Amino acid sequence: MILDQLAKTANEMVADDKGLLAADESNGTIGKRLDTIGVENLEDHRRDYRELLFRTQDLGNFISGTILYDETIRQSAADGTSLVSIMQSAGIIPGIKVDTGAKSLPGSPDEKITEGLDGLPARVEEYVGLGARFAKWRAVITIGDHIPSRYCIHTNAHALARYAKICQEGGLTPIVEPEVLMDGDHDIDRCEQVTTLTLNTVFDELYAQDVALEGMILKPNMVISGSDCGSQADVDEVAGRTVECLKRCVPAAVPGIMFLSGGQSEEDATAHLNAMNAKFGPAPWKLSYSYGRALQQSCLKAWKGEAGNVDAAQEALIERAQANSAACAGTYNKAA
Ligand code: 13P
Repeated sequence: MILDQLAKTANEMVADDKGLLAADESNGTIGKRLDTIGVENLEDHRRDYRELLFRTQDLGNFISGTILYDETIRQSAADGTSLVSIMQSAGIIPGIKVDTGAKSLPGSPDEKITEGLDGLPARVEEYVGLGARFAKWRAVITIGDHIPSRYCIHTNAHALARYAKICQEGGLTPIVEPEVLMDGDHDIDRCEQVTTLTLNTVFDELYAQDVALEGMILKPNMVISGSDCGSQADVDEVAGRTVECLKRCVPAAVPGIMFLSGGQSEEDATAHLNAMNAKFGPAPWKLSYSYGRALQQSCLKAWKGEAGNVDAAQEALIERAQANSAACAGTYNKAA
């Protein structure tokens, strides 16, 4: 019974060429984003910005769900309407980040382990009461000299599976996000090797902990050159090698794969997704997006914290959302 509900949510998240808006930046991370436009990191400013996002006209045509941070799921708009009900009225499913961040991995200080399992069942119950239908947990895998270690990949995979099982028991569809960072000068081969090991380890743990694959979403990185690598793979190579790697590692029972943007430019993130769907299908799962920076960058720049710029900022957001929705269909055309 509960599996039907989990699977229904997962399928709705990837239906109709829609994707997710990741707006779950912690207060620290959103502070860094606001700093780039000279806006002070105050609760009202964070609220104004998120209200702008969720009130964007027609956003629900391209965005199926939004990932929220703990503060945001409890917040109300300036007129008193809860942000959750604004999203629901627009046909957008509320989701919630439930991890409490990536901390230094004991014994391997250059690597990270994501925390947040303690007390998670009670928090899941509370978030369901606040209107959430899905959850997110992000594990971070860093490529560098002699890393990642098997220890880092294994402990993170174990925690991801524990989180996913707890969410499924509580009625939230888990987004399982093992992010292999693009930071570094490694080449695309190294990214593929680490992504393959990470995904295989994650699915092994999901199986060991009896997570229902039909009732989850995978949110991986793309197979891509490190951001400081001298030789950058082109769009078709990234798209082709990403789909090939995922086909080798991700069971067909998973309804959808929704990529993170991970520091790619808005245009690159759209072009890569588009090429996957246009040239490298058919795939056993829907290939969609769950972008944070690649949906919000130009929106944030257009807003600058000024009420007079809200329309321009919303236009910038809808333009990226529409472009990524077209990329889900493989019909994105930059010139159009
Ligand atoms: P980016 O698309 O900016 O990587 O953010 C997505 C996300 O939710 C990371 O956890």
